[in-house]
Amino acid sequence: MVFIKTTLSLIKADVGSIAGHVVPSKELVKAVKAHVKSSGIVKSYYVFTTGDDVSILMAHNKGKDNEDIHKLGWDALERGAEVAKEQGLYGAGQDLLADAFSGNVKGLGPAVAEIEFEERPNEPFVVFAADKTDPGAYNLPLYLGFADPMHNSGLMLSPKMKKGFKFTIMDVAHTTGDKIIELKCPEDLYDIACLLRDNQRYVVESIHSNITGEQAVSVSTTRLHNIAGKYTGKDDPVCIVRVQGEFPATGEILSPYEICHYVAGFMRGSHTGPLMPVRSHSTISFFDGPPIVSAHGFCVHNGVLTEAIDLFDHPFWDHVRNKAADKAINIREQGFSGNAMLGMNELEYGGIKEKLGKLEKKFIVRK
Ligand code: 13P
Ligand code: 13P
Ligand code: MG
Ligand code: MG
Repeated sequence: MVFIKTTLSLIKADVGSIAGHVVPSKELVKAVKAHVKSSGIVKSYYVFTTGDDVSILMAHNKGKDNEDIHKLGWDALERGAEVAKEQGLYGAGQDLLADAFSGNVKGLGPAVAEIEFEERPNEPFVVFAADKTDPGAYNLPLYLGFADPMHNSGLMLSPKMKKGFKFTIMDVAHTTGDKIIELKCPEDLYDIACLLRDNQRYVVESIHSNITGEQAVSVSTTRLHNIAGKYTGKDDPVCIVRVQGEFPATGEILSPYEICHYVAGFMRGSHTGPLMPVRSHSTISFFDGPPIVSAHGFCVHNGVLTEAIDLFDHPFWDHVRNKAADKAINIREQGFSGNAMLGMNELEYGGIKEKLGKLEKKFIVRK
């Protein structure tokens, strides 16, 4: 019997939004959906928004890095950008950095995460989309969800996970190719931690089961300012996580988001803020933030997606959102000072460097 593999492709971009970097218009989202639907290329898809970003999830059997699928994602986002221009939305076409599609959407601006697998008899998975932050935002939740029994009780309880997982980590400062390292937990746990503490440099790209070799996780690792060489917006990453069975349970994957850990992003992509787990289609507000993450749950069967469920739409997460708001206020109280803003290399605007350059000339060294 020949098994047809299923591929999940998740492509996301900011192509314009209402009232600043807040939320795309309904017309824009409608245009993106209509394009995917009318193409007839994928039979199963789901379009949603997180802050000012539009995500397109597609289930198909054409494999990863497939030109038709990537072109479909790009064209749909371009339709969205056209509507954004017509409506005079802010930042129309913001993340579409190339003039035209060329083979693969990676490196052209949009965030991409993809996994290809032979479907298990039941195939549950979670799709995360974050706004006002960068790919390193997933480092801590993925480490805790896959490598720490404080969150992943299955590491103790389930024989299917007893050999742990392999982390593939990318050095995103290396821009002339994919520079990666593969490390296994539990063996290399401390080495993994050494890398993942630096969210701006080392980013989890994928995670595989050490028992079956099956891929559990794919994260978009694109860094927009590496591509464009200047500020164009934060990288607002997406992440697909297969759950249950040989992988962590859905609740184990969600558990670390209770921390609302501080991430890079927030106002002008240049600050530090807590990652707030939000409902689907959430907008952006306080100080162009706080950084947010949405989680949609699905099953896929014979390449067909179930309806989406909103995993952060639960009374528990209201309590957590209050905690995130407290953490946001706490760090904002110190404004531009110290850790509240990112280091020089991560600032998304050149303004400070320019100012410092001018001031440098006015400095004198006392004799
Ligand atoms: P199963 O035994 O159905 O895999 O469920 C385990 C689980 O998810 C508990 O959270
Ligand atoms: P986005 O990256 O979500 O477009 O936000 C950019 C920004 O500068 C917010 O202040
Ligand atoms: Mg924007
Ligand atoms: Mg955004």
